[in-house]
Amino acid sequence: MIPDLLVSDLLDTSAMTAIIVCNNGTVVFINKTYLDVLGKKKEEVVGKNVGDITPESRTLTVLRTGKAIVGYNWSVNGYNMIACALPIIKDGKVVACFAYSLFMDIWDAKDLVNNLMSELNMYRDEVRNLYSARHGFSEIIGQARNIQDMKFMAQKAALHPSITVLVTGESGTGKELFAHAIHKASSRSRMPFIRVNCAAIPENLLEAELFGYEEGAFTGSRKGGNPGKFELANGGTIFLDEIGEMSTSMQSKLLVFLQEKEFERLGSNHPIRVNVRIIAATNRNLEEMITQQKFREDLYYRLNVLTLDIPPLRNRIEDIPLLVNYLITKLNIDLKTNVVSMSDEALDLLSKYNWPGNIRELVNALQRAMLLADMGNYNIINAKHLYFLKINLDNVNLSLSSTKTLKMQLRCYEKQILSKVLEETNYNKRKTASILDVDLSSLYKKIKQYGLQPDDA
Ligand SMILES: Nc1ncnc2c1ncn2[C@@H]1O[C@H](COP(=O)(O)OP(=O)(O)OP(=O)(O)O)[C@@H](O)[C@H]1O
Ligand SMILES: [Mg+2]
Repeated sequence: MIPDLLVSDLLDTSAMTAIIVCNNGTVVFINKTYLDVLGKKKEEVVGKNVGDITPESRTLTVLRTGKAIVGYNWSVNGYNMIACALPIIKDGKVVACFAYSLFMDIWDAKDLVNNLMSELNMYRDEVRNLYSARHGFSEIIGQARNIQDMKFMAQKAALHPSITVLVTGESGTGKELFAHAIHKASSRSRMPFIRVNCAAIPENLLEAELFGYEEGAFTGSRKGGNPGKFELANGGTIFLDEIGEMSTSMQSKLLVFLQEKEFERLGSNHPIRVNVRIIAATNRNLEEMITQQKFREDLYYRLNVLTLDIPPLRNRIEDIPLLVNYLITKLNIDLKTNVVSMSDEALDLLSKYNWPGNIRELVNALQRAMLLADMGNYNIINAKHLYFLKINLDNVNLSLSSTKTLKMQLRCYEKQILSKVLEETNYNKRKTASILDVDLSSLYKKIKQYGLQPDDA
């Protein structure tokens, strides 16, 4: 048996009003909340007829009909409530009526929650758009065997949404394009695709960027903490671009995540489990970096489950006409030009060039040539619109001297090489460093040493 005390305690909860009226209309119980709402004392209510206290009371109707009234609006003294009046039946006779009501504020709160939920969904969609893969396999142009093989393998990878993929290849070959396409064709496509450029984020911030942090984890950390990219990418794909630039200490932390599939935010010891596919990319030779102890071998094997080595453009020159056609159509829209094609002579020139910057360089060269052609009212790109491509490493002229030291002559040669490649890459230092296979930091030193700034710098 439930003790009476417990029942009245329950009925006295402040979230609801409660009243019991016996079959002659006399109030036999009223809880404190209802008394507060009525602004009356217990003795002013108990033992009195309910009709004298609240003339509209539905309890009288229930006592008369014996039928419950559920979910009606009940207003007293400016309080809006949602109420139920239930008959209490004994031996087939209505002996009393129990009525209770909940404050509408709870419903208001529900409305608020609903509004917040729709707002949250709107932001979710926005974030999804922001972090979605924008490019699909149909945008990877190429009929050459080597690129077709890579596309085939990448499509297979897309079908296995948890396999880690390593994409290697020279600068501008389309590594990021492949990463997008794999995500977009996979069952994760509706979830986020998040790119982290490991080279662009300073080493000491990369850990917080990837794993997030708790409030107070370090000076300047945001109130309430911050989720990392791994948390944001949950369910989707994280694209670790330029992984070859990651410090060895960060490599170790990534390895732990790959092994355990969980991590902790900085400043927390609460492990977080996420389900993400990792696609990593680099234009560095990781195996060589392993021998130089710049890349962890164990991490390499974890990442290297499936490797896509994207071929450089010079190894698939047969694709140049196809790429040129595709890119002309695409670039006409961006540049607002009306170029229709390229002359055979110009195409021939493109096929003789060695494309150190690969497709990105082809895109840039076409942009330049299309603008030149357009300015001269040509709708076909001719060889003369590609004059700038002749700038080639082979053109570096070296005058040998028998009076200067070897060191002086080598420095002179080095300066000319750097200057040519910087010019070719529009002073893109990362690309220059990659083409010449030198460290970015030593390239910066040499640029300073030789004063190799662009003319307008
Ligand atoms: N097969 C392709 N067909 C059409 N466009 C391509 C192809 N490959 C690459 N591109 C285009 O070339 C440009 C460079 O591609 P992307 O950024 O994917 O190269 P990347 O290998 O990641 O370069 P980096 O090493 O410099 O980061 C992009 O504009 C991309 O759309
Ligand atoms: Mg890239």
